[in-house]
Amino acid sequence: MIKVAIDGPSGSGKSSVAKAVSAKLGIVYVDTGALYRSVGYYVRIKGKDPKNAEEVSALLPEINLDIKYEDGVQCVYLNGENLGDKIRQPEISMYASAVSAIPAVREFLLETQRSIARKNSVIMDGRDIGTVILPDADVKIFMTASNEARALRRYNELTEKGVEVKYEDVLSEMIERDNNDRSRAVAPAVPAEDAVMFDNSEYSLEESIEYVIKLIEEKTGVTK
Ligand code: DC
Repeated sequence: MIKVAIDGPSGSGKSSVAKAVSAKLGIVYVDTGALYRSVGYYVRIKGKDPKNAEEVSALLPEINLDIKYEDGVQCVYLNGENLGDKIRQPEISMYASAVSAIPAVREFLLETQRSIARKNSVIMDGRDIGTVILPDADVKIFMTASNEARALRRYNELTEKGVEVKYEDVLSEMIERDNNDRSRAVAPAVPAEDAVMFDNSEYSLEESIEYVIKLIEEKTGVTK
């Protein structure tokens, strides 16, 4: 079994690359951000303050999260309901980032993530996979791209899904969220010491996929 950790800020292309690599290599793709988004979503519908550690922690015992794979797509079930695209709204991104700074939330989601990697070969994307969740991963990649390249990708992704947004708002929210994620006290979104840094501002999606597959081949011997 192999474990591949891909960390980096939003819009760096982690999820698109990880999804494609998972399909090519036949390993399980785990989108860990979806778990933080699901907690953020629950806090939102309960009308609580996502920055208030006490309020958020009090809700955790009410939350049951399940990851299932349907037609190869990861679905997160919250108390039996498939959340689908409800967790993709920009407002939920901010909720997810806020709750992710709370240590009790990170602790709550830790075992769900590790247990998938114990049972399967995985490519897992997030912010602390190489540093905290899978410190013994076979391959660790920290993906980045310029702010503008990342905001444009996120903008295109959202508008393609029919979400109405302005590019300027996407850019400023993204910068705010990345600053939150990078500067938090617990499991900040920073590269592991042994991560390969990959700035893909000038790479197409196909080129990024090829780059990552080559790295995995070199480090694990697994080929497509
Ligand atoms: O990857 P994403 O944009 O869906 O993640 C949403 C938020 O969740 C992100 O702003 C930070 C948090 N997150 C985290 O703290 N650790 C992870 N492993 C994944 C996401």
